[in-house]
Amino acid sequence: MDVLRIKGGLPLEGRVKAAGAKNSITKLLVASLLSEKKCIFYNVPRIAEVEVTVDLCREIGAEIHWDKEAGIIETQTKELRTSYVPQRFSGSNRIPILMIGALLGRTQEDIIVPTVGGCKIGQRPIDFHIAALEKLGAVIEYRMMKKEGAYFAHAHNGLSGAIIHLPFPSVGATENTILAAARAKGTTVIKNAATEPEIIDLILFLQKMGVIIFVDVDRTIRIQETHHFNEVEHTVITDRIVSASLGMAAISTKGRVFVEGAQHLHMITFLNKLHEIGAGFEVRDNGIEFFYKGPLKGGLHIETDVHPGFMTDWQQPFVVLLTQAYGNSVIHETVYENRFGYAHALKLMGADVELFTQCLGGKECRFASRNFHHSLIVRGPTPLKGREIAIPDLRAGFAYVMAALLAPETSTIGGLQFLDRGYENIVGKLASLGADIVRDRADAHSPSLAIASAS
Ligand code: EPU
Repeated sequence: MDVLRIKGGLPLEGRVKAAGAKNSITKLLVASLLSEKKCIFYNVPRIAEVEVTVDLCREIGAEIHWDKEAGIIETQTKELRTSYVPQRFSGSNRIPILMIGALLGRTQEDIIVPTVGGCKIGQRPIDFHIAALEKLGAVIEYRMMKKEGAYFAHAHNGLSGAIIHLPFPSVGATENTILAAARAKGTTVIKNAATEPEIIDLILFLQKMGVIIFVDVDRTIRIQETHHFNEVEHTVITDRIVSASLGMAAISTKGRVFVEGAQHLHMITFLNKLHEIGAGFEVRDNGIEFFYKGPLKGGLHIETDVHPGFMTDWQQPFVVLLTQAYGNSVIHETVYENRFGYAHALKLMGADVELFTQCLGGKECRFASRNFHHSLIVRGPTPLKGREIAIPDLRAGFAYVMAALLAPETSTIGGLQFLDRGYENIVGKLASLGADIVRDRADAHSPSLAIASAS
C-alpha cells in the first residue's frame, strides 16, 4: 500500500496547471457512445477515474487511443460489442448507470449495468435516473445475477420524448436523461435540471455532435430527437474543484500560486467566499493567482448547494482553510447527507470542529430532522499537527493533504486510491510548488493506515 509523507509548514509558491475536469470527461466519453462517429478530446486528465471509464467504454466496443502525455483521447464506437457492463465495474464509480441513457437508443438488446459506486458520502440512490428513463419509455428492472444485483434496461418499443420534472437538480439524473433524450422521438423537456458547468460542457459537446438542445433560464433543458451525428473535437473544461483546491492550499500555507487554466466563470461563488475571509486572488486571462494577504477572517456561513451555489466538493478543503481563520464559521452541507466523514481525522490533527445534525444556516434542507451530521462549526485559528491518517473519500483526501501541508511534523496519509481517482500527479504538482511531499510504501506496522485500505 502506498502512502503520502508530507512535512508541512512551507508556503506553496509558483505556477501549476489545473487538469481537465474529471466530472466532465467521464461523461463525455459515455456520450461519445451515442454515435458511431469519431470524437477527439483534449485536456484529458491522467487520473484513475478516466482509466476506469476508458476501460468501460472499450468493453462496450469503443476503439480508444489515449495519448497520456498530450492529454488527448480519440474514440470511436463504430458498433457496440456488447451492452453488458460486467460486474467488475460494480461499485467502481458513478459512470455505469449513465450507460443506460447512452445505449438505450443504440441497441434493442438488454443493457445490463451493475450497481453503481463512487465515494461513500451518502446513500446516493438512483431513483431519479430510473423514473426519468422510464418516463421516456425505458423498461428497467433490478435483478439478481450470480453474485450481486444489476439493472436490466431496454426500450424495445423505442424511446419517446416526455416532460420530466426532477425532484432535485441531480447532476447524474440530468445527464442520463439528456443522453437518452438525444435518441428519443420528438422533444424531451427536463425541468428542475442541474446546470453545473460539467453539464453545460456535455451540452456543448452534444450540440457539436448534432444534437439540438436548449438551456432555458429556469433550469429547463429541452432536447430534440437527433438522426445524424457529426465527428467532434472538444476541449474538456478545467476542473474547478482541483483549481479551487490548489488555490486554498496556496492561501492556507501563506503562499502564492498561479493556477493556470482556472476558469473564472465556474468559480464565482467560491471567489466571493475567499473575498469574505480576506484571502487574495487575481483573475488573469489564462488562470487565477491565489495568495495570502494577511490574517484570514472567520465568521463565515457557507451553505453548499447545486450550481451556481457553493459546491459540495469545495467544502472539505475550505473547512481546513477556515481552521486558519480568526473566528467561528458554520458550514451547512445540503447536497449530501454524509459529507463530513473527514472531520474526525481533522480533529485528531488539532482542528476545532464540531458536527451537528440540525440545519445550521438560513434554510432547512432535505436532511432536516433526519439525524445526519450535516452541519459543522469550525473555530480558528488552530495550529495543526502531523498524524497518520486514512482517506475516507476523494475530496476528503485533498482536505487531508492540505491539513498535512499546514502541520510542521510529518503526516502519513493512506487510502491514496481515493485521491488517485481525481487529482492528476498531485505529488509532482505540490512538490513543484515547494511542498515537502513524497509517495512511498507504507511501513509494515501502520494500523491506522491499514484501516484505510480495507474501507
Ligand atoms: N439523488 C437522489 N436520487 C437520484 C440522484 C441523486 O436522491 O436518483 C440525490 C443524491 O443522493 C444527492 C443529491 O441528489 O444527495 C445530488 O446528487 P447528484 O445526482 O447531483 O450527484 P452525482 O451525479 O452522483 C456528481 C459528481 C459529484 C458531485 C455531485 C454534485 C460525478 C461523477 N459526481 O455526483 O462529485 O459532488 O455531482 O455536484 O459527476 C466528486 O467528484 O468527488 C463527487 C462526489
